[in-house]
Amino acid sequence: MYLKKLSLINFKNFEHVELEFSEKINCFTGLNGIGKTNLLDAIYYLSFCKSYFNQIDSQNIKHDTDFFVIQGEFVRQERLEMIYCGLKSGKKKIFKRNDKEYEKLSEHIGLIPAVIISPDDNTLIIGGSEERRKYIDSVISQFDADYLHRLIKYNRILMQRNKMLKDFSAQKTVFKETLDIYDEQLAAEGSVIFSKRLDFIDKLLPIFQKYYSLISKGQETVDLIFKSQLLEANFIEMLQAARNKDMMLEYTSVGIHKDDLSLELQNRAIKKIGSQGQQKTYLAALKFAQYEFLKSVSGLKPILLLDDIFDKFDSERVGQIIELTADADFGQIFITDTNENRIKNALSQISVKSNVYSIEKNTIELEQK
Ligand SMILES: Nc1ncnc2c1ncn2[C@@H]1O[C@H](COP(=O)(O)OP(=O)(O)OP(=O)(O)O)[C@@H](O)[C@H]1O
Ligand SMILES: [Mg+2]
Repeated sequence: MYLKKLSLINFKNFEHVELEFSEKINCFTGLNGIGKTNLLDAIYYLSFCKSYFNQIDSQNIKHDTDFFVIQGEFVRQERLEMIYCGLKSGKKKIFKRNDKEYEKLSEHIGLIPAVIISPDDNTLIIGGSEERRKYIDSVISQFDADYLHRLIKYNRILMQRNKMLKDFSAQKTVFKETLDIYDEQLAAEGSVIFSKRLDFIDKLLPIFQKYYSLISKGQETVDLIFKSQLLEANFIEMLQAARNKDMMLEYTSVGIHKDDLSLELQNRAIKKIGSQGQQKTYLAALKFAQYEFLKSVSGLKPILLLDDIFDKFDSERVGQIIELTADADFGQIFITDTNENRIKNALSQISVKSNVYSIEKNTIELEQK
């Protein structure tokens, strides 16, 4: 699967751009702030229906204009897929596949699998548990639509239950039967989500460890441990045991919304003991594992978006990553770099078709190899 053409109108700093891509390697070069990452983000939008960097859609409309359009022409299983994403300020986002509008954005998730590696990924290490849950959720949702539906449902029930706990506290009354119903629904969705998360991490772990030792040349051991209250007790029993406490706290204190991942190096938290290079390698290995995993479940080679990897690794590791991704195991790749010569140099080491786009203020020049 690959992106053949991309067209943007008023997306971030681009007023109007049309680009055609190589099936294999595409590089965007240019100065800081010229829009290289924005191009990756536009591609990310077409896959995930949202930005990787700015979750507030309206802020991705070019300043002083009132709409954006992103259109992509993909070749997927030998068929053309025209994907359209349009946003007018103050209106609902419109998403279309081959001119037919989706009723729900969740129907689109998974059609165009993609994986991004970006400097922003370190929020997975330094951020709170919510970042790591969001990561697990976004990966599983790409290949399991049922998971995404259950998650949306779980979050809705959780919100309603929390509201009810607040209302009970304000009114000083409790309808135990109503809470019972919420508990049952929460436990039904939550238990399935829990086992799918557990299963996913279980399968991802050996692939992740393989990539870590490949990139780091096998020096250290890494681990990825799933943490959940549900590992210790049955969900419904846990909810019932925590009920009095929840009523005092006015929110639901147990459940899969508390799950987390422990990211470890040599059996210790990588956040505490990992050097910057080790942390970067850890994240890249995780993303490559995600790539391999998605490929095996979808039967498609996801699009790989590599933002500023030169900034993340020394030239030896970059060489290794370029070589790795140029391999037939990987499909289409987009890479950004501020330094045109550096990227051309890295590409000259491999014999794969590649396009280099040098971006300037009003022009984008293409050089093909
Ligand atoms: N909604 C918007 N309207 C206009 N410009 C925007 C909008 N959102 C972001 N920008 C501009 O996009 C530019 C950043 O683009 P981007 O992050 O793609 O740069 P880059 O080429 O990746 O730079 P770097 O090499 O520093 O990573 C900034 O100058 C920012 O002002
Ligand atoms: Mg950038």
